[in-house]
Amino acid sequence: MKVLVTGGAGYIGSHTVSGLLKSGYEVVVLDNLSSGFREAVDPKAYFYQGNVNDKTLLKEIFKSHKMDAVIHFAAKLIVEESVAKPQEYYFNNLVSSLLLFKECVANGVNNIIFSSTAAVYGESLDGNLLNESSACKPINPYGKTKLFVERMLQDLEQAGLLRYVILRYFNVAGAEVNGGNGQRTKGATHLIKIASEAAAGKRKEVMVFGTNYPTPDGTCVRDYIHVQDLASAHLKALKYLIDGGKSDTFNCGYSKGYSVLEVLDHMKKVSHSDFEVKYSARRKGDAPSVVSDAQKIKSVLGWKPEYDKIDLICETAYEWEKSRP
Ligand SMILES: NC(=O)c1ccc[n+]([C@@H]2O[C@H](COP(=O)([O-])OP(=O)(O)OC[C@H]3O[C@@H](n4cnc5c(N)ncnc54)[C@H](O)[C@@H]3O)[C@@H](O)[C@H]2O)c1
Repeated sequence: MKVLVTGGAGYIGSHTVSGLLKSGYEVVVLDNLSSGFREAVDPKAYFYQGNVNDKTLLKEIFKSHKMDAVIHFAAKLIVEESVAKPQEYYFNNLVSSLLLFKECVANGVNNIIFSSTAAVYGESLDGNLLNESSACKPINPYGKTKLFVERMLQDLEQAGLLRYVILRYFNVAGAEVNGGNGQRTKGATHLIKIASEAAAGKRKEVMVFGTNYPTPDGTCVRDYIHVQDLASAHLKALKYLIDGGKSDTFNCGYSKGYSVLEVLDHMKKVSHSDFEVKYSARRKGDAPSVVSDAQKIKSVLGWKPEYDKIDLICETAYEWEKSRP
């Protein structure tokens, strides 16, 4: 079985590539290295540097490799940037996905796994856990691009052109437990990455954006999922699709939320570090509380998280950060 992984040099993509190779899949990575890293890609994978909207390159890849499925990670994903530069997001995330799917269909590759996000839900106003049937009301261009790609996949499926699994990730964090891979992202905006950098002495302070949200301590609440558990969700989704499972959408999270201040406390505890915390106004586009109901992926795909402890997530992120110059 051979799988094309777009964005396979990125944080989640590279962890998934390693998981696929370990499970016996052949892997072809397509990545333009705009935010990914060549060295993050397992050398056993084929690697093409290029854009997912490059028709000529896609034709060459599909001609050289008979693909059984595509896992589509490649995207831009910084919420605040999407508010400031919506055109870049609509082009890179939406238009490029359309062009990629068109080439997949034209080349007989009909199984697609798509990286979506909890940002498609927007605000969970009533504080309930978000399940796959919750209303999708994205509040920023990033979330909108992901929701539009979901809708596009549903229409392509209805037309009999392909089958899909959409995985809606909540907040992904942590590093491989053996320290072999972790988050390299430059200028990251992810809380646990930033906190681990501060704990490792690589940045002076951590900024908390907004302390007056309608949450127990006033800071934003998120559901953090360990990157290796997320990689294993892709393996489950792939097997499900290849075995003929019907197109479907699944949340990927642990159904438990932590506030920004709670995460910072956990990071300080596991790293024995007392980095400085500063407070600032809310950022545009942040929802108060985003926590999954992740029952469906467990019952339908048989996914079993192994790393669902916030301390372990913080510790692996910190150990990874500390080990790198
Ligand atoms: N990190 C999270 O917490 C999170 C949460 C929800 C959803 N997601 C989704 O997961 C996916 C992967 O995110 P990540 O955290 O690994 O980010 P990342 O930036 O590390 O990975 C994205 C990869 O895609 C590549 N890329 C971007 N645009 C491309 C294009 N047009 N052509 C080819 N390659 C391109 C980048 O170089 C990078 O390697 C994204 O689709 C993102 O929206 C991430």
